[in-house]
Amino acid sequence: MELKGKKIILGISGSIAAYKSATLTRLLIKAGAEVRVLMTDAATDFISPLTLSTLSKNEVLCSVRSEAGWNNHVELGLWADAYIIAPTTANTLARLANGICDNILAAVYLSARCPVYFAPAMDMDMWLHRSTQRNLELLQEAGDTIIEPPSGELASGLNGPGRLAEPEDIVRILARALAGQHDLAGTRILITAGPTHEPLDPVRYLGNRSTGRMGIVLAEEAARRGADVHLVLGPSSLAVDESLVRLSRVETAQEMLNVCVASWSGVDVGILAAAVADYRPAEVQTHKIKKSENNPALQLERTPDIAATLGAQKGHHQKLIGFALETQNELENARGKLERKNFDFIVLNSLADKGAGFGTATNRIRIVDHNKVTEFELKDKTLVATDILNHLVHRLS
Ligand code: C5P
Repeated sequence: MELKGKKIILGISGSIAAYKSATLTRLLIKAGAEVRVLMTDAATDFISPLTLSTLSKNEVLCSVRSEAGWNNHVELGLWADAYIIAPTTANTLARLANGICDNILAAVYLSARCPVYFAPAMDMDMWLHRSTQRNLELLQEAGDTIIEPPSGELASGLNGPGRLAEPEDIVRILARALAGQHDLAGTRILITAGPTHEPLDPVRYLGNRSTGRMGIVLAEEAARRGADVHLVLGPSSLAVDESLVRLSRVETAQEMLNVCVASWSGVDVGILAAAVADYRPAEVQTHKIKKSENNPALQLERTPDIAATLGAQKGHHQKLIGFALETQNELENARGKLERKNFDFIVLNSLADKGAGFGTATNRIRIVDHNKVTEFELKDKTLVATDILNHLVHRLS
């Protein structure tokens, strides 16, 4: 990974995962970056500034004050090409989301003009807490990037999201972002994402566990690489950077189809990452269904197949990419879909893989083309998006 000549500020806050910031510093230096390290007081309880100054070959700043007076945080904020805070504690997230400026990390954050990345690390309950989630949203809305904490065993003994992203993944994300790739410039891409909700009555619906994360990450990443992206998103609570992509929000499979059909002839590529409901209630009741002594039967009917509809109308210049989540006969089923829906390639996720599928920050995929299968490792969904888009660029060329 290339970071030659890039100027990176690494902020470290007080989490047990701070021990990994030594490896992160090493990897950044190895990639060719110039690194300046900032630490909160609490971080110095977990790892010594001496370790980081030795590895970064630069003085480490732990306070706004220095022996000579003030450390020049404004200059540092303007110097950097990227500012990464890893690990970011819940406290540092809250501080920076709200503009509180009582330590060197915060002072530099408020002066920084470069892109800012947060790699949070905390206990699962703290991560899932509404306050933390609200702070994350505030930072994302302001244009900062959150490198999602993968799930796994936590220092507290809990198992779930909250681990610091692997230093290798952090370096890759920074390198890719700073490379300023524009290999999708001028490509118009339609992306579907999220679940659909199929109403039963005014208060109930049939839905599924898709969060929309994979499709949203793909959309934002394609836009950063220069594509003109239209994201058609089913009900999802995740934030979308609307400065990057055009967003249409829909509820049902039928609404998703309508928006996609209207858009399809004007785009070059369709990426169908939505988990569209296969069935919907045959009749939608206008009033809330009342409890009764009998067990009511639910009559279902098929929803429209968006993929098959777009596939049937696909022009020579267009590419259509599908997703498949299979639990058995994965390759055989994926190949069947490739033909039936006229996909150019299909991204296969396996629910059998730990850390892959719905609601996780990571995914393990295989890309199934008509004549070959390419296997990828388990990795952060933003890096999975990069693999998928690289494959697309290759197929477009
Ligand atoms: O047949 P299956 O649902 O497994 O196919 C998955 C692929 O087809 C995904 O790309 C999904 O977004 C797409 N699809 C669709 N409309 C449907 C069902 C699936 O676009 N009604």
